[in-house]
Amino acid sequence: MSIKKVYFDNAATTPVDESSIEAVLSVMKYSWGNPSSTHAFGRTSRSLLERARRQFANDFDVDPAEIFFTSGATESITIAFHSACKEGVKHIITVSTEHKAVMDAANEMHIRHNIPLTILPVNQHGAIDLSELSEALQLHPGKALVAIMYVNNETGVIHPLKEIGEMVSNYNGLFFCDCVQAALYQDIKPKAQFVDYFSLSAHKIYGPKGVGLLYINKAREKHALWRGGSQERSLRPGTENIPGIAGFTAAWEKAQKNKDANQKKVQLLANRLLEGLSQIKGAKRNGTSTASHIVHLSIPSNKSTSAILLEFDLAGVALSAGSACQSGSHQRSHVVEAMGLPKGYVELRISIGKQNTEDDIDYLLTVLHKIAAN
Ligand SMILES: Cc1ncc(COP(=O)(O)O)c(C=O)c1O
Repeated sequence: MSIKKVYFDNAATTPVDESSIEAVLSVMKYSWGNPSSTHAFGRTSRSLLERARRQFANDFDVDPAEIFFTSGATESITIAFHSACKEGVKHIITVSTEHKAVMDAANEMHIRHNIPLTILPVNQHGAIDLSELSEALQLHPGKALVAIMYVNNETGVIHPLKEIGEMVSNYNGLFFCDCVQAALYQDIKPKAQFVDYFSLSAHKIYGPKGVGLLYINKAREKHALWRGGSQERSLRPGTENIPGIAGFTAAWEKAQKNKDANQKKVQLLANRLLEGLSQIKGAKRNGTSTASHIVHLSIPSNKSTSAILLEFDLAGVALSAGSACQSGSHQRSHVVEAMGLPKGYVELRISIGKQNTEDDIDYLLTVLHKIAAN
């Protein structure tokens, strides 16, 4: 008898939408020219690439020249940090719950350029205190780079993007925002939100892996990580990943078109999950002002997180304890540590996708009840 399989790790990666698969295949079959070639094959690919750029630019109310395609958010984040540091940044400010890609980029700039680094704490609900950000901005004279994500990838906590952006701009700082987990359901309008740089990743929005986007305000300096070609206006050399970009654009289009309906569905599923959770003694949801698709739980248990995750896996339920890039680690997640969540619990991240159903939630709850009872 085959066991039921349900996927609740959509913050790690999403299944690829059919429209995205079709777009990738179509480019691979019919539009495989090199976009830098001047003949008709190349021109077809070039026009696909520039159409994709215009589409994203249009949806974010920015200039197409401010959109760069990359291999994913990690690369976008790294380019943004290097670019900001080229402007003589005197202070980097970030938050203790940022993704490792941001933490590593901040640390690298701190060590390489000797730039003071302030890591703002969060409270037990994962929220930052804006007065602490304001104090940090006053700490060092000169331009600061502030890196704060929109939606946290482990807890779903939404940071107040516009207030942060406005504050950073009042201090003449630069604002980088990792928008990876915000792309599906939050509004991203960098001009109105005072954002100088942001990152996106296709594989978190039902697109393919290995493709992402970086927005850089055109008034800002740019710094390429490597040389070798003039693609992406020399910021990101190397022949462009046209199939990936086409798949990314198709996934984005579909996500935008169905944004409200998908969000409503995901919210209803999250509510169903939380209702079931209320019957598990001592179980609680963590985080405040959370996005609908990420539910971060603590359940009382003396078992290890990996033992619990294995029990879920054996029952056919895919979920995680935190960020996928740190899933091999046996330590508690840095996000959980930063929030100071109590010991004696196991933390689980249940991230819901548009493909999930009420049946999936009910099955997850059945397994969760069994695991919590043992
Ligand atoms: C918030 C956040 N930032 C950055 C990344 C890295 O994205 P990519 O896999 O495209 O490099 C992820 C993916 O885990 C993420 O969730």
